[in-house]
Amino acid sequence: VRPEIVIAPDPPRLAGLAADRFVEVARAAAERRERVSIALAGGRTPLALYRRLSAESLDRLPWTQLHFFWGDERCVPPEHPESNYRAAFETLIAPVAALPRHNVHRILGELVPPPAAAEAYEELLREFFAVPPGTEPTSATFDLVLLGLGPDGHTASLFPGDPAAEERRRWVVAVGKPLVAPRVARVTLTLPALGAADRVFFVVEGIEKRNIVAHVLREAPAAELLYPPARVKPRGAVTWLLDEAAAALLPEEWVRAGRRAASESLGIA
Ligand code: 6PG
Repeated sequence: VRPEIVIAPDPPRLAGLAADRFVEVARAAAERRERVSIALAGGRTPLALYRRLSAESLDRLPWTQLHFFWGDERCVPPEHPESNYRAAFETLIAPVAALPRHNVHRILGELVPPPAAAEAYEELLREFFAVPPGTEPTSATFDLVLLGLGPDGHTASLFPGDPAAEERRRWVVAVGKPLVAPRVARVTLTLPALGAADRVFFVVEGIEKRNIVAHVLREAPAAELLYPPARVKPRGAVTWLLDEAAAALLPEEWVRAGRRAASESLGIA
């Protein structure tokens, strides 16, 4: 099945659209179960979404039921400017008094060596989701995973050609310094961990990503050989939330459908 594609006119409206979709998924999950688990993305793109959620969605989200995790972390301490935890903490977590602090489950980027941090995070996840080591989950783990896309075709810290993208058993692995900034080791969820989730949103914006968006989305199944994001297959749906610039090289017909999907959500004609 081809993933759902939704195209917003510009980055601010992309953030608004992503916030609305986030709220929708979180609320639906909260009706089904007590704890709603969401893996946050790193990088700069999701920060506008996080600000929207903390500023505008105060009454729209079941905060006490939400549990936040991360898809990946840079191996730096939590107060470091490159920490994915820090970025989400400042924009999403700190401003929301209603979110219990023990609902925040960060990756210990400061733990050395990085494989120890990966192991600790996998243990935390397996305990949270009650999935014994070495076994597969019988139902979905994360209700929602947010992901970004790097211009080289990476997602979370799964880089094209890196063995981490071939991991079949472990949920979390350490990755050596990548070729793209910031050049620090990482800890990342693996494809099996992403595959155990219910929903996945890729949020991607900017003209410099238009090539890679087109490669990842258009050249299926060849894309799967090259790009880890093309192999993210959760139990439920994958949705690509794009701005016009990032969608510029997609087939015209997909773009029209993506705009229609956005205008239905955004309430614009
Ligand atoms: C990270 C990420 C990474 C990110 C992309 C896009 O820790 O760097 O999780 O996968 O999502 O690199 O990053 P930007 O949004 O900054 O372009």
